[in-house]
Amino acid sequence: MTQRKGFNGVGIIGTGSYVPEKVITNFDLEKIVDTSDEWIRTRTGIKERRILDKEKGSSYMAIEAAKKALEASELQPEAIDLIIVSTVTPDMMFPSTACLVQESLKCKNAAAFDLEAACSGFLYGLSVAYSFVSARIYKNVLLIGTDALSRITDWTDRNTCVLFGDGAGAAVISEVPEGKGILGLDLGADGEGKNLLKLVAGGSLMPATEETIKNKLHYIYMEGNEVFKFAVRKMEEISLKIIEKNKLNLGDIDYLVPHQANMRIIESARKKLKLAENKVYVNLENYGNMSSASIPVALDEAVRKNKIKDNDVVLLIGFGGGLTWGAMLIRWYSKGRY
Ligand code: ACO
Repeated sequence: MTQRKGFNGVGIIGTGSYVPEKVITNFDLEKIVDTSDEWIRTRTGIKERRILDKEKGSSYMAIEAAKKALEASELQPEAIDLIIVSTVTPDMMFPSTACLVQESLKCKNAAAFDLEAACSGFLYGLSVAYSFVSARIYKNVLLIGTDALSRITDWTDRNTCVLFGDGAGAAVISEVPEGKGILGLDLGADGEGKNLLKLVAGGSLMPATEETIKNKLHYIYMEGNEVFKFAVRKMEEISLKIIEKNKLNLGDIDYLVPHQANMRIIESARKKLKLAENKVYVNLENYGNMSSASIPVALDEAVRKNKIKDNDVVLLIGFGGGLTWGAMLIRWYSKGRY
């Protein structure tokens, strides 16, 4: 694989996102379960979320987000060598959602596969894309985080249904000028937490039966309070660890794009990093937790609103089922593509 002179870095050269039009507000939820707008806002920060039309799947959102990322990257579909889709809500078990995207976008030269690391999926995917481009195996990778959590949410369970929403975010990963792009990454997992956040039925261990449907085993199960404590501890820990590992100081971080699960979790990380409120991108009030899509949608919005500028050091952090977590440091490269 040839390399452009002076382009020794690997980074994001274009982003895009898509959220469905249909909105469900906290007030709408008050009519379905025993909850209140006040409870949801104060405990989570969420005001409303988007819901994908019944006849569409996660691939629809992935394709819409990817189109925008491709346009921003100024690449033609044929230039994409690999498509990675991170999702826990694929259109179907197989073929992969990545193959559906590949066909729709006419990325004829691209290999394609799905990756699953729950809400940490985009950061895991970014690490895989980074590795392929750094190793000079592929030049341009299209990465998409897409999730329709509305499909696996029990809309009669107030403990979970207030938290989630649907959406997709995408990024094109490629060569960038020396000194720019991904500076460091850190991923982790702890399978001992496998029971805190899960969807148990529909896989090989417990295929769908009348019994699994009756027992609501095709929906997200979460021990919210335990996940909350883990998330607060982990988001703080990985933020400090990645800064130290890359020999940076707290003051070197220009902008934080965290996973959008709960405002209180984001706030604890922000305070640990001693960042001002305007240095953190938050959109969970509009979308709730969109799993794999949360970080790339937030990143795309931040870039398009000019909150993230060329040369800024951006920190991405996330956590999710598994349990899994990840952090990524990027020196932003922008040539005014938006
Ligand atoms: N409306 C009103 N009351 C509610 C609601 C609701 N929607 N949900 C729960 N409650 C009640 C509970 O039943 C409980 O009542 P009780 O004391 O009578 O038993 C009370 O509120 C307090 O519940 P807690 O669980 O202690 O509330 P907490 O402050 O922990 O907030 C929350 C709950 C928002 C779920 C929080 O724990 C959280 O955000 N956890 C992390 C969730 C998360 O990030 N998940 C995503 C992981 S990423 C992925 O992979 C999908």
